Amino acid sequence: MKNRLNTVMLSNSDDDIKYAAELIKNGEVVGMPTETVYGLAADATNPEAVKKIFEAKGRPSDNPLIVHICDASMMEEIACEIPKLAYKSAERFWPGPLTMVLPKRIIIPKVTSGGLETVGVRLPSDETARKLISYSGKPIAAPSANLSGSPSPTTAAYVYADMNGRIPAIIDGGSCNVGVESTVISFENDAIRLLRPGYVSVEMLSEVTENIIIDKGVLEQLALTAKVSSPGMKYKHYSPKAEIYIIKGNLSDFEKYVSENLKDDDAVMIFDCDELSLDVKTIMYGRNSEQQAKRLFSALRECDEIGADRVFARCPSTEGVGLAVYNRLLRAAAFRVIEV
Ligand code: TXA
Ligand code: MG
Repeated sequence: MKNRLNTVMLSNSDDDIKYAAELIKNGEVVGMPTETVYGLAADATNPEAVKKIFEAKGRPSDNPLIVHICDASMMEEIACEIPKLAYKSAERFWPGPLTMVLPKRIIIPKVTSGGLETVGVRLPSDETARKLISYSGKPIAAPSANLSGSPSPTTAAYVYADMNGRIPAIIDGGSCNVGVESTVISFENDAIRLLRPGYVSVEMLSEVTENIIIDKGVLEQLALTAKVSSPGMKYKHYSPKAEIYIIKGNLSDFEKYVSENLKDDDAVMIFDCDELSLDVKTIMYGRNSEQQAKRLFSALRECDEIGADRVFARCPSTEGVGLAVYNRLLRAAAFRVIEV
């Protein structure tokens, strides 16, 4: 970073949101709460402002940003050739954690779209985010507000931990309700292609069409050189310093495996209902998939807070929002899955 900035923490009062909107109009980057995770918000139509997002995150320039709008009608200002299925999906899931990849209009510069001719469009349900977009009068580009490669931030304090000195302000909107990033989809003829699972699950998407293709990148590791539908899928992601291992099996097999392999400074990441008789540092990450989604990223940050070398994690269910939890944990674990 060239110049270290003084990062101020703002509240989500109207006055503070208006102040943040002024910063955005002036081409600055602001930490913004959403219902999924915090974002790094800037004017999506201003290439210089968008470049500051990539700089603050240390993000590869070919990884496109999602553009946030505050009203469904704004979709037509930034995207074109919008298929019927997209209108249907917007009607059903917006405002909310769904991003739709559509052909972009010229108003969205190539830096924002990572060089692609498409743009990811999302109408968040979080009221503070919608006010910020509305007061700034611009579509807002916002990736998750973590340093590239780190777990996404679900509180303003986590944004501060990663972005202190790198951006001028963060709006504190409390902890995020959903906890994992939005579902990303694209459209092919009469089908929806799932590029990144999120709170809007495959089961929910099947309410708008039966034709759902789950992209290979959702559950498989892609080569850095692979041609992918969503560039974000090929990069290292969500990784604490600790090495995470996903242990697939029931609780007693999990316990047996851990007890046979445990070293000093190892820890476990388990469900709230799990009872272990091992003497080991323990991180809990929820009872059901929704709680796991909400707590996964703070649990991953906790792995480093407790100084763990290796963390053995119970394998989550892949149903509903569980698929999003598993998808993020797989990347955090660099695809290390051990079946017991
Ligand atoms: O919930 C969310 O989506 C959060 C909040 C802040 O809205 N944002 C977020 O952005 O997660 P980011 O940049 O961390 O992740 C965006 C993902 C990346 O994997 C990126 O590759 C993909 O969406 N993406 C964005 N635009 C795309 C496009 N035009 N085509 C394909 N994939 C796209
Ligand atoms: Mg991200």
